[in-house]
Amino acid sequence: MTKKQLNQTSELVVCSQSRKNENMAIALAKRLNVPITDKPGEQLSLVVDEHCISLQGYGLSYYGDFEQMLHRITQGRLQHEMLVRVAKSKEEGRKAIDMTAGMGEDSLLLAASGYNVTMYEQNPVVAALLKDALRRAKKHPVLCDIVGRMQLVEGNSVELLKDSVERPDVVYLDPMFPARQKSGLIGKKLQLIQKLEQPCLQEEELLLAAQSLHPQKIIVKRPLKGAFLAGREPNYSIKGKAIRYDVFYTPGIIDK
Ligand SMILES: C[S@@+](CC[C@H](N)C(=O)[O-])C[C@H]1O[C@@H](n2cnc3c(N)ncnc32)[C@H](O)[C@@H]1O
Repeated sequence: MTKKQLNQTSELVVCSQSRKNENMAIALAKRLNVPITDKPGEQLSLVVDEHCISLQGYGLSYYGDFEQMLHRITQGRLQHEMLVRVAKSKEEGRKAIDMTAGMGEDSLLLAASGYNVTMYEQNPVVAALLKDALRRAKKHPVLCDIVGRMQLVEGNSVELLKDSVERPDVVYLDPMFPARQKSGLIGKKLQLIQKLEQPCLQEEELLLAAQSLHPQKIIVKRPLKGAFLAGREPNYSIKGKAIRYDVFYTPGIIDK
């Protein structure tokens, strides 16, 4: 199977395994324009059961679960998160836009630190998984307040924010890393989700759209030794063990 084939959602099916949630499965299949089945498909399946919506295939299964992030946001550990340190702002009612939401984990860190976060996700399957993870987190005693500060918008952020009058404090960008890692080195989540995604072809557009919102900071997540997004040098970078945050803080600085 080629990478191109894997990136097509046309091979996807929605598998309904819950009478209770059958209508949800039907609506999802209709929205994604894919067949609905009662058994998982041969390749990728979005399986709707009593508990959640999961992505299954190739012997792997994944669903979004913000409870797995609890150890990073409780008991004083949140302030040690690099992203939280980079995004820190002293103003009240801070607003962030995550233009490349994925499964919303970085957005959760921002929301846990007090930001109201609007997340944009263009991949309809990823968006469905994220929406389901948010739905379940709303019932959790600790997570409910945090995810209450997270809103998901389905669609391409570059297009949707084109004429926006939003003025966020922070714009966050984490497009797909340019070089895909070997499957042995990455988790189940990335292995399955990478089957759906194309590498980012909109680096320049993402940066320009972020700049047009005039935030105090644009924060870009990169692989530690990865090239700058769109080749634009940031004002400064903060380095971790495997990743790096590049920060642009002066509107106009990313103009050529
Ligand atoms: C590496 S993942 C982000 C992971 C995320 N930071 C997290 O913590 O889960 C990149 C995501 O950005 C999405 N994406 C890329 N370009 C986008 C765009 N222009 N608008 C909306 N989503 C976009 C992709 O579909 C993909 O799901």
